Amino acid sequence: MLVKTETPGFRSLMYRSAWLYNAITRRLYDQDRKFSTIAMLIGKGPKEVLDLPCGTGYLMRFLHPAINYEGVDLNHRFLKRIRKKELKKRNIKLRRIILQQKNIFDFQNYQGKKKDVIVICDILHHIYPKHVELINIAKKIAHKIIICEPYVIKPKEISARDKLFKIIIFFGKYLPKFLLKIIDFLFLDNDGINTYNMRSQWNLSKKNLKEFYKTMGFNNKYRILDEYIAIWES
Ligand SMILES: C[S@@+](CC[C@H](N)C(=O)[O-])C[C@H]1O[C@@H](n2cnc3c(N)ncnc32)[C@H](O)[C@@H]1O
Repeated sequence: MLVKTETPGFRSLMYRSAWLYNAITRRLYDQDRKFSTIAMLIGKGPKEVLDLPCGTGYLMRFLHPAINYEGVDLNHRFLKRIRKKELKKRNIKLRRIILQQKNIFDFQNYQGKKKDVIVICDILHHIYPKHVELINIAKKIAHKIIICEPYVIKPKEISARDKLFKIIIFFGKYLPKFLLKIIDFLFLDNDGINTYNMRSQWNLSKKNLKEFYKTMGFNNKYRILDEYIAIWES
């Protein structure tokens, strides 16, 4: 099922193609280890899982088949790719899959009762300064929240798994800010929803991100390359 409500603005190349998004993020982060760890933390058996935002639906690849999955994202191209290709190609068979094209802050319309697990992955740095608001509303409708966020965002700080990307990032260090802003707009983290001026204010180091998780009541941190996973339980 696909429900549509809102249309975002201009997106970078990376956010125009789910294939490209996956190809790039797989070279920057350890996506398989990250999402299989999140799936392991969600656990097996029938559960209501809400993925905020679901992006290209990568998490679904690792979920137990008895799970009822609900994914929300404003990127219609990503959702379309999940529906048309991803589920079939990866042979993803979950008990129920609901995909909604809407704003993650639009909590009134989430389907049904309280969620067993809400996953908040790789989104806080996009929605700054509303990141605390998202976590607080999620706490009201979830028994458990699994959060995952990179502690390095600026291109020059990213470790990158892939040699080619390591080289690109190395030279990226020397680019002036205005050029980085243009590159971000056309090719990188411009999701068409959150502005560069806001996103670029997110600046949590490894220590600060750990501190932030702790302040918000999250525990059991797992480090995966440049990212930290943590858990909150009601
Ligand atoms: C970096 S991706 C992360 C996606 C997914 N959680 C993952 O880890 O692969 C960020 C996603 O957030 C979505 N997004 C950003 N702000 C949003 C909002 N306010 N409502 C819905 N989706 C949003 C973008 O469309 C994009 O797909």
